[in-house]
Amino acid sequence: FAFAPANLEWAHEQITKYPAGRQASAIIPLLWRAQEQEGWLTRPAIEYVADMLGMAYIRALEVASFYFMFQLQPVGSIAHIQICGTTSCMICGAEDLIAVCRDKIAAKPHALSADGKFSWEEVECLGACANAPMAQIGKDYFEDLTAEKLGELLDALARGEVPLAGPQNGRFASEPK
Ligand code: FES
Repeated sequence: FAFAPANLEWAHEQITKYPAGRQASAIIPLLWRAQEQEGWLTRPAIEYVADMLGMAYIRALEVASFYFMFQLQPVGSIAHIQICGTTSCMICGAEDLIAVCRDKIAAKPHALSADGKFSWEEVECLGACANAPMAQIGKDYFEDLTAEKLGELLDALARGEVPLAGPQNGRFASEPK
């Protein structure tokens, strides 16, 4: 793994934002950029970022494995679905959403769908508890979900459509901007 030239230039800019000897503070943005370049964080990508920041691989891996935003396995080419399974979402139907993922994507979390287009996992609270149950799809939040609605979203994504993110029941916590 190596950063593409534009990403390498960007990475050096990030590192200069921190005092000398503190370049490890740039770990999260650099890992994120590596993931954006590759689609997920391979071991060589984590090693590359660790080397760049003068860190041990294990320390970079500790960061990469702590946050749900980092994927340590290949993800679906269209979307990786993250279903919140924490209290509010669990009470409001997260299990129904997980059942849709098991049915339409793969029986086990982190496995790719047969066509390689989707993957899924259960994650901890994503901070949208008032609109439970919800899922993060790519970088967008889809809230006030039902099993039926999630199924429709997956079908729309598979057709190449870009569904409108946000509450999925027509209710907005505030006026949409
Ligand atoms: Fe699901 Fe907080 S409990 S977003």
